[in-house]
Amino acid sequence: MADAIQALRQALGEAGSIVALTGAGISAESGIPTFRGQGGLWRNFSPEKLATPEAFAGNPRLVWEWYDWRRGIISQAQPNAGHRALAELERRVGGEDGERNFTLVTQNVDGLHDRAGSRNIVKLHGDIWEVRCLGCGATARNEQVPLDPLPPRCNCGGLLRPGVVWFGESLPELAWGRACRASGAAQVLLVIGTSATVYPAAGLAQIAQGEGAKLAIINPEPTPLDGLADWVLRQPSGEILPRLL
Ligand code: OAD
Repeated sequence: MADAIQALRQALGEAGSIVALTGAGISAESGIPTFRGQGGLWRNFSPEKLATPEAFAGNPRLVWEWYDWRRGIISQAQPNAGHRALAELERRVGGEDGERNFTLVTQNVDGLHDRAGSRNIVKLHGDIWEVRCLGCGATARNEQVPLDPLPPRCNCGGLLRPGVVWFGESLPELAWGRACRASGAAQVLLVIGTSATVYPAAGLAQIAQGEGAKLAIINPEPTPLDGLADWVLRQPSGEILPRLL
């Protein structure tokens, strides 16, 4: 393990372009439940009833109750050492435009990367603190916890929905384009705290590797990408990421 960390640290030091792809696991040490695996949300809740456009059309109140509950948990959580290490890595390497660059592509909607100080963030699955009006299409930030009324309404009277991507929906085009470009240009891709089972996000690993990037997986459990990886670090991200700096 120490050798792998040393080798990855060196690769990060030499890389002109670095991308980190994160998933729910990076926020696990902040006390936010993941989706799959032990204690995962999809063990106790059904995605079809809570995270699809059809579910929302059928019962907006139920869907909002679930998001309101998650917003409550997230509002009590703090960024952990893993989030902070990625923000520090960005500060050292530089953001989007420098000679070296670092892009953080996240599937998470919790906003903990923002709060930890990361700046060049691509949010593939939206943001739980954003709302979008089904009537007029306006988007807004909404940090009210708990929400009142439920479901929340826009000033125009229209129903607001969470600003997240649901099953069956496309990823935001701009975000996906940025993620693909950054991954295609990366020399090192860190895949952190994701089961790598949800596409197209997980496909960024193949895109990066196809263009020559080295691939590191940071996850206490095996993932389907492990066989492709140059380094597999099977430990919590809050422990490994600070050691890479
Ligand atoms: P998952 O819940 O599928 O996977 C979480 C991963 O984190 C698992 O592989 C765990 O082993 C790992 N993990 C747990 N604790 C960890 C720790 N301390 N450090 C590092 N890794 C840890 O979450 P995602 O891969 O993010 O989509 O799921 C992808 C998407 O599926 C989510 O964005 C969400 C979900 O349905 C939407 O809501 C659209």
